[in-house]
Amino acid sequence: MYRIAVVGATGYTGFELLRLLASHGGVEIGALTSETYTGKDVGEVFPALSKVVSRRLEKFGRAVCEGADVVFCCLPHRTAMNTVPGLLDQGFRVVDLSADFRLRDASVYEKWYETEHICPERISGAAYGIPELYRNEIRAARLVANPGCYPTGAIVALAPLLRSNLIDPASIIIDAKSGVSGAGRKAELALQFSEVNEGFKAYGIASHRHTPEIEQELSVAAGIEVRVSFTPHLVPMTRGILSTIYARAREGVTEAGAREALGKAYGEEPFIRLMPEGGFPNVSQVAGSNFLDIGLTLDGRTGRFVIVTVIDNLVKGASGAAVQNMNILLGLEETQGLSHPGFWV
Ligand SMILES: NC(=O)c1ccc[n+]([C@@H]2O[C@H](COP(=O)([O-])OP(=O)(O)OC[C@H]3O[C@@H](n4cnc5c(N)ncnc54)[C@H](OP(=O)(O)O)[C@@H]3O)[C@@H](O)[C@H]2O)c1
Repeated sequence: MYRIAVVGATGYTGFELLRLLASHGGVEIGALTSETYTGKDVGEVFPALSKVVSRRLEKFGRAVCEGADVVFCCLPHRTAMNTVPGLLDQGFRVVDLSADFRLRDASVYEKWYETEHICPERISGAAYGIPELYRNEIRAARLVANPGCYPTGAIVALAPLLRSNLIDPASIIIDAKSGVSGAGRKAELALQFSEVNEGFKAYGIASHRHTPEIEQELSVAAGIEVRVSFTPHLVPMTRGILSTIYARAREGVTEAGAREALGKAYGEEPFIRLMPEGGFPNVSQVAGSNFLDIGLTLDGRTGRFVIVTVIDNLVKGASGAAVQNMNILLGLEETQGLSHPGFWV
């Protein structure tokens, strides 16, 4: 039995990790850290976990994670980079859910996150944690930079189409909508029920921090520098991201050709599902699951592909991907603890 620890266990991604790992079967839950709830049992902080996981929350410190085979770091960006290097130096394998090690160029991080990167030398050792694209790198890594939620929903669908040169890389528009849990558990005026309920708004227009992460990975797939228009929206639902993506088809490309490229890339992947022709996914069908579902059509009138992807931001967009990465790091079956379907239809 392997042992895991979670640093920053009292946020939404920490909760989701514990929910998934409680029934994983191959790992036991070790240290769980919190600064705010030190000394409380995790079941007191999350009543849903009472009688499922019982563990006292500890203040983070050097000795806390002792004995862990994998440490999940669920801290906010900027905070994670203060913690991860110490964990690596202690010999732990780390899956970091923050953005601090996702961008390969520290100057890009510094520009978009408006802060100095305090350990840029650690970035090159991090594997970017989309298993469907970087499985071999993840297997060999000590540090996995778990991908962002919006980037996952966009990159997975677009990478095979760019690799096969089926779409014009300069034409990509990503119009994405997220539930409120995407912003984490912290109290914030804009995230209060009365501010969000019955509303629907765009935010981070032409400036959202996931933009460079999406562009980085699409550039790798295209083999040239890619720039995208990315607009996220906040929807009054708890979980889920639906991304509607537009991209101009290359001359002569057909919908069947795009379906073939996606089928070739993901036909054997356990968590990527391509909807049948004419079918488009609903976020409800992936709620609580590690699936990423894709629907697409080629609008013959405009020559543009319209691609719709859905994920649960807390599962395939965060903690489910983190468990998938942990399974890879530990040499376990990649689907272990993740093979359940969504909550809804
Ligand atoms: N929510 C999502 O859908 C999602 C998706 C992908 C990636 N992520 C990323 O995953 C990370 C965690 O996200 P989350 O949604 O779980 O956030 P969250 O709900 O706000 O939780 C953050 C956790 O970090 C701890 N924490 C906050 N500030 C801290 C500090 N200064 N020092 C030490 N601990 C601190 C908090 O615990 P205590 O106050 O108890 O110490 C809490 O356990 C973030 O980097 C986020 O960007 C989130």
